[in-house]
Amino acid sequence: MSQHYQHDVLVIGSGAAGLTLALTLPEHLRIAVLSKGNLANGSTYWAQGGVAAVLDDTDTVDSHVEDTLNAGAGLCREDSVRFTVEHSREAIQWLIDQGVPFTRDDQTSHEDGSFEFHLTREGGHSHRRIIHAADATGAAIFKTLLEQAKLRGNIELLEQRVAVDLITERKLDLAGERCLGAYVLNRTSGEVDTYGARFVILATGGAAKVYLYTSNPDGACGDGIAMAWRAGCRVGNLEFNQFHPTCLYHPQAKSFLVTEALRGEGALLKLPNGERFMQRFDERAELAPRDIVARAIDHEMKRLGVDCVYLDISHKPADFIKTHFPTVYERCLDFGIDITREPIPVVPAAHYTCGGVVVDQSGHTDVPGLYAIGETSFTGLHGANRMASNSLLECFVYARSAAADIVQKLNDVSAPANLPTWDASQVTDSDEDVIIAHNWDELRRFMWDYVGIVRTNKRLQRAEHRVRLLLDEIDEFYSNYKVSRDLIELRNLAQVAELMIRSAMERKESRGLHYTLDYPQQLPEAKDTILRPPIYGD
Ligand code: FAD
Ligand code: SIN
Repeated sequence: MSQHYQHDVLVIGSGAAGLTLALTLPEHLRIAVLSKGNLANGSTYWAQGGVAAVLDDTDTVDSHVEDTLNAGAGLCREDSVRFTVEHSREAIQWLIDQGVPFTRDDQTSHEDGSFEFHLTREGGHSHRRIIHAADATGAAIFKTLLEQAKLRGNIELLEQRVAVDLITERKLDLAGERCLGAYVLNRTSGEVDTYGARFVILATGGAAKVYLYTSNPDGACGDGIAMAWRAGCRVGNLEFNQFHPTCLYHPQAKSFLVTEALRGEGALLKLPNGERFMQRFDERAELAPRDIVARAIDHEMKRLGVDCVYLDISHKPADFIKTHFPTVYERCLDFGIDITREPIPVVPAAHYTCGGVVVDQSGHTDVPGLYAIGETSFTGLHGANRMASNSLLECFVYARSAAADIVQKLNDVSAPANLPTWDASQVTDSDEDVIIAHNWDELRRFMWDYVGIVRTNKRLQRAEHRVRLLLDEIDEFYSNYKVSRDLIELRNLAQVAELMIRSAMERKESRGLHYTLDYPQQLPEAKDTILRPPIYGD
């Protein structure tokens, strides 16, 4: 039987953004944190390089702001960038206070035997400013925050719970616009439960799974973006899908990223004949922003008709490589590649969703009571191309500001009453799951082929035509059959793909990550692509 639950705060997502928000809220609040798989399901666990922040005395807020604006190709919102960077040091201090074991720099010993933190470099950064835990920063952060959350009596950590849709006053035909909770599939019981809450937070991560090849884990399906859209929220800049330049190219290596910090520490990109090529595309060569490096690799692969290019750090001492990049070293060794001796075969893969649910500096969406934080949100920080390691920073800064906002509003918002139970009376068990699997595959393949690193009007039109057919088919399926995780994700992924294609078609220029052969120039004025859901009636 389906259940009803009531919390003060419902956090959908247990990554960096969701856990930070839960831990920042006061301990007298009853908080539920949901994950649709196990708690480590999101991208956070897999983050390698680190977190960008102004920590070195020779670095400045202005310099980090300027680098971010440059990487964002004129489209970042400067107030969001400044807000994020100005709060970077305190966000890192909070992580250190939670116990995150960031790597120390043994070149900087103090009299008492302690060391400063080691800071590495990545593309687009003019300073060493990436704090990290070797090359497994996300796992170190996630484990620490999870440990802290488990110590709190007020935080319920709930696995295998897939949020299906948000419950709003508008959907229930009540007066008002407020978000009141969510319907959530319990994958163990198979029931859709009702979660009422005074505040609902989307911390559901990105949507890179919309592409056939991605660095992201399986759950990155844009659920939060699709749910927010259906609830009446605007979405922004969804045409800017970031492709990470260097994912391991090996038939058995599913989605393994080779961190940009390798290039920060001197790794070189090479063609199959051993020749370097990045200096032909940008004077910053291997340390140019990601859009430029990924496009250069794509260009060279197509020009030469080769399956991959190579990333070579073998000129550095083996001890240095093994200490700084133990994860990459071990993983490559599993596939018979010794990176201390030979170059790594790499290709670009979809990595990060720069756009998302439109929010302000406190994470408010357009629906009162509903917040979006982390990769699912669109804060204006990343513009047309996210600079490396600014994403985790955004998770911490905005989660903390959303928590502060909730605290201020606590006395004004009471618990929603009498939410209706999920109606499953009209649906049956599906006997054709093959349709779901087929549509998943088709969607991800045409998004890769038609909405990838290089676009054209014709390719986008083809993609638009196909996604509309898929959406119709999925709608029919959704109305007739019981929901499952695969169906929920496919429905969301197709919705987000449609929004991405529509956004790409609206942009009649090439800027940052959006490159189209039909409009190769950048327009003089930079404008966001903001889409409004149909409930606005326009
Ligand atoms: P996630 O960590 O993705 O968590 C999403 C959560 O939402 C999960 O718990 C998931 O189960 C849950 N969820 C989703 N949908 C539902 C639903 N319908 N119902 C219930 N739960 C749901 N960024 C950096 O700044 N530095 C790096 O070094 C870095 N390295 C990266 C390396 C890799 C391989 C990848 C993939 C990304 C990397 N990034 C990096 C990007 C960064 O990791 C992510 O942007 C960030 O972790 C997103 O955090 P999040 O909390 O927003 O979402
Ligand atoms: C990486 O380590 O290369 C990923 C960094 C990021 O996505 O910010």
